[in-house]
Amino acid sequence: MDRIDSVKQTQNLSKPPQFNDENTAPLRAKQSGTDATIESEVRGYVRTFPTVFNKAQGSILTNTEGKEYIDFFCGAGSLNYGHNNPNAKKALLEYIENDGIQHSLDTATKAKLDFLNTFETVILKPRNLDYKIQFTGPTGTNAVEAAVKLARKVKKRAHVIAFSHGYHGHTLGALALTANDYYHDEHYGSRDNVSHLPFDGYLGDIDTSEYLEKVLSDQSSGIPLPAAIILETIQGEGGINIASDAWLQRIAAICKKHDILLIADDIQVGNGRSGKFFSFEHAGITPDIVCLSKSIGGGLPFSINLIKPEIDAWKPGEHTGTFRGNNLAFVAGRAMLEYWKQDFESHIAERGALVETRLNAIIKRHSKRDISCRGRGMIWGLDVGKGTVAKSIIQGCFASGLLIESSGADDEVIKIMAALTIDILTLDQGFDILDGVIAEVFAETDLLS
Ligand SMILES: Cc1ncc(COP(=O)(O)O)c(C=O)c1O
Repeated sequence: MDRIDSVKQTQNLSKPPQFNDENTAPLRAKQSGTDATIESEVRGYVRTFPTVFNKAQGSILTNTEGKEYIDFFCGAGSLNYGHNNPNAKKALLEYIENDGIQHSLDTATKAKLDFLNTFETVILKPRNLDYKIQFTGPTGTNAVEAAVKLARKVKKRAHVIAFSHGYHGHTLGALALTANDYYHDEHYGSRDNVSHLPFDGYLGDIDTSEYLEKVLSDQSSGIPLPAAIILETIQGEGGINIASDAWLQRIAAICKKHDILLIADDIQVGNGRSGKFFSFEHAGITPDIVCLSKSIGGGLPFSINLIKPEIDAWKPGEHTGTFRGNNLAFVAGRAMLEYWKQDFESHIAERGALVETRLNAIIKRHSKRDISCRGRGMIWGLDVGKGTVAKSIIQGCFASGLLIESSGADDEVIKIMAALTIDILTLDQGFDILDGVIAEVFAETDLLS
């Protein structure tokens, strides 16, 4: 029996959802293949979705048993245009068929030039944005590393300010900016030269931008003048915390006043996730550096940084790496930019409105409970108050054929991130599953209390 088969054997896909977390933990460990794989213990999502996926199209994944799952997870924002988007697929098949360049370090290729031209014409110019584009290593954390390194080089200062509940990746530089203690170990030395200040809303009604201004204006505050402030306009992993437009405008003004670079980490909520291509467009601000990854590659690994021309201080080859610029991702990513030639914002808004309506209906139905929702565009969170409750809901959804994840300090926020291209029927079907599972979980917890 090979390993995949033995993993399959440990699954019992017809088993009804069990909502008592303590009871299901050992079962889930077994289903995930914990005792039947050579893969490191570090694996994570397979524990949440313990099955062997085989195929995917649009918003539907199919496992090796033929069971289908609706995708409300979207590779944590990497599949905004759905799995195997037909336009990306067609472009990729043609490219490979014609022996297009696969790997090129950062030499010029037609695929790269086409991507650059399309990005400039379709995304930057219509928004009056003047940025240079740096291709970084392929994952989000590579973009963050490059952004922070450039900011430090330009401003000749080591310190960087990030925010409570912020998430920026796991390589050591980016990890320093990531707030959640779960990912840290004092031996990593990963807290150096970074201060985490309160994000918008962290202190209730208190305007945390005033606190930022205060510590920057006081040379005895203990917070050194930073090279950069890095933020997510909507904290995805942090629990769908949305910075208000006014707060973002104040942060941008503070950066200007104190000669600090503003880095927008748009890795999760860029590429249309917030309803506009860039999430900071809502606030009308123009960050000095923008990190983009995930869906920018049309489903393939690819990251870029947008850099204001006046701070493009890199020396040739100074920040390098073998896999900067992925030609297949140039091709797939460019095909996805075509969506932005049309009124894609209305298309996203229609789906976002449906998500909001369905979430509000769930909240109304369970009005005795302390649950709430928040979101923008096609990134929404349903805060169920407790990580254990969210976990039971996620497990129940998985058993019923819906992939959905949670975020937040206690993983207490169910994160709804369906593809921007999802058809309305599938979106509704996904919500029918979520709705039913939530009712079952709440009924179960009522019985137990
Ligand atoms: C806002 C943000 N920044 C950075 C990252 C890191 O990206 P990656 O996991 O591709 O390294 C993520 C990943 O979820 C993210 O959400």
